[in-house]
Amino acid sequence: MALQLRHWLPLPLLLVVLVAAASHGAPSGGDSYDASLCAPDRCGNVSVGYPFYFPNKAAVLLGNSSSYCGYPGFAVLCEDGKAAMEFGGEKYYVSNIDYNDFTVSLVDPEVQEDGSCPIADHNVTLPQTSWMYYPNTTVDYLVFFLNCSFGSGIGRPTNISPIGCDIFGGGLSFVLPRRDVPAGDWWRACQQVVEVPVLKYVLPADPQNDPDWRNRGFGRALRAGFQLAWERKNSACDQCEQSKGQCGYNQEGEFVGCLCSDRRVQAHNCTSA
Ligand SMILES: *[C@@H]1O[C@H](CO)[C@@H](O)[C@H](O)[C@H]1NC(C)=O
Ligand SMILES: *[C@@H]1O[C@H](CO)[C@@H](O)[C@H](O)[C@H]1NC(C)=O
Ligand SMILES: *[C@@H]1O[C@H](CO)[C@@H](O)[C@H](O)[C@H]1NC(C)=O
Ligand SMILES: *[C@@H]1O[C@H](CO)[C@@H](O)[C@H](O)[C@H]1NC(C)=O
Ligand SMILES: *[C@@H]1O[C@H](CO)[C@@H](O)[C@H](O)[C@H]1NC(C)=O
Ligand SMILES: *[C@@H]1O[C@H](CO)[C@@H](O)[C@H](O)[C@H]1NC(C)=O
Repeated sequence: MALQLRHWLPLPLLLVVLVAAASHGAPSGGDSYDASLCAPDRCGNVSVGYPFYFPNKAAVLLGNSSSYCGYPGFAVLCEDGKAAMEFGGEKYYVSNIDYNDFTVSLVDPEVQEDGSCPIADHNVTLPQTSWMYYPNTTVDYLVFFLNCSFGSGIGRPTNISPIGCDIFGGGLSFVLPRRDVPAGDWWRACQQVVEVPVLKYVLPADPQNDPDWRNRGFGRALRAGFQLAWERKNSACDQCEQSKGQCGYNQEGEFVGCLCSDRRVQAHNCTSA
């Protein structure tokens, strides 16, 4: 970051900036930290900033090694210009982060290809301790029933139609919004049941009577991805942010300090005398 500044600031202005930075605020204890730690950055077309962070931006904060400026579990990887997050052992592309709405938009890379039969083959699983959740204003759920063989005591519900593309060579597969799943244990006829979040607005009113939906529509729904919302779940971090600081955490997910605009790390907040 400092190197980048040098490239475009004329020398006199650079000196002013450095002097201002050095004299800004009265340092009141606490270690200093490198400004780049909390500075937002881009990955491809996605702006990644607090409380998200790149895992390679780590520092020693109040003696805690490999600490970062952001929330636990909010690491964003940047690979080949694509931002991604990992949870439940799976990787998801980040298409947008909305810092005013506290939402992040994600897409499963495995359903990105066009044309094929884009079924979901794994559940999206958030860690139990995650500070992220599915916002019920924008997210609904699709359930895939894959490779079902009816007969031998298990009847097929009459009011559902199979999806139009065949991936399993024989067995029928179904995709239903969660609200439309017929009651009963008929799904035991299926090899796999997978539930994935999707955006509400991509679901038609009556998907079962919409042949386009059963053939391609659900693929578009998967490719549109889903959203997660986030919230802070830590009173130590509340206190820090209320004083306009940003929270630092260590690799164990423990709050280690409050990163203040005077480039000092304080134990609790930025208002301490
Ligand atoms: C690390 O952070 C913890 C708070 O989570 C703090 O108690 C501890 O003193 C810090 N320093 C080291 C060296 O662990
Ligand atoms: C970034 O590009 C991807 C792929 O073209 C697109 O889906 C996404 O919406 C873009 N995100 C932003 C924030 O423009
Ligand atoms: C969404 O969740 C909130 C609680 O988190 C609840 O009050 C609200 O009724 C829910 N809305 C819908 C549409 O389910
Ligand atoms: C589909 O299910 C049948 C058994 O009902 C199984 O023999 C077959 O291997 C399955 N196909 C795939 C691709 O998993
Ligand atoms: C995926 O979710 C569905 C629906 O909640 C559940 O029945 C199934 O057991 C889950 N599969 C795995 C592998 O967790
Ligand atoms: C800020 O931290 C100091 C201790 O460093 C504490 O005395 C004070 O009450 C805290 N202020 C707020 C607003 O939490």
